Amino acid sequence: MKFSLNVDHVAVLRNARGEDNPDPVTFALMAEEFGVDGIVVHLREDRRHVNERDVRLLRELVKTKLDLEMAADKEIIDIACDVQPDLATLVPEKRQELTTEGGLNVVDNIEQLKSTIIQLHDADIPVSLFVEPDLVQIDTAAEINSDFIEIHTGVYANAATEEEMFDELERIRQAALHAKKLGLGVNAGHGLNYLNIKEFTAINNNIDEVSIGQAIIAKSVFVGLEKAIKEMLHLLKI
Ligand code: PXP
Repeated sequence: MKFSLNVDHVAVLRNARGEDNPDPVTFALMAEEFGVDGIVVHLREDRRHVNERDVRLLRELVKTKLDLEMAADKEIIDIACDVQPDLATLVPEKRQELTTEGGLNVVDNIEQLKSTIIQLHDADIPVSLFVEPDLVQIDTAAEINSDFIEIHTGVYANAATEEEMFDELERIRQAALHAKKLGLGVNAGHGLNYLNIKEFTAINNNIDEVSIGQAIIAKSVFVGLEKAIKEMLHLLKI
């Protein structure tokens, strides 16, 4: 299973002082040296973490893969078409939320998502839709020509009981299998960490890649980026 690192939280720390340190771009380049398979950033409408300068520099310098997360919003999609990330991941976005709160409702937003996918495809950018492990949402993602889905793992990560956790793992397993049968690439992410990743990888051989941010950035504060990344790579390869 591949591992992409989300560096948004480095930008949050940088923005806290309104200055230029720590630079999420430098951090991303170091993470590549330490073995991550890709870099993820979310260019939000409110620019609360990365900004356009970060995204453009990342596009120039990232050698692995740049996954740009964004809402299906005209201004941001136009920037994405110009920047040309290796993957555009469409996510729902609410101004007041602390972080992305769940998957897209593809079924209810079919026309808007369909035209956004066409625009991104016209710019030669493959598209992923961030969805719950829900078969109807996944069918609809395939129907409107998404190339990938990213399964929201937040419910698994926040499960209050073991039973709830295993139920959600099973939903994710079924969803990944279903998506693969439809020919979709399958990523997953949100809330994955050093404690919950092992159970996750054990049942999920249809997931190509996980996208992890918070847990890695938080650990790197204590042990440094190299150790934080290598420990996760080790867990993912077991
Ligand atoms: N995938 C998506 C679509 C996200 O929005 C986020 C959060 O920015 C992540 C993955 C990573 O989540 P976390 O920071 O909890 O690892």
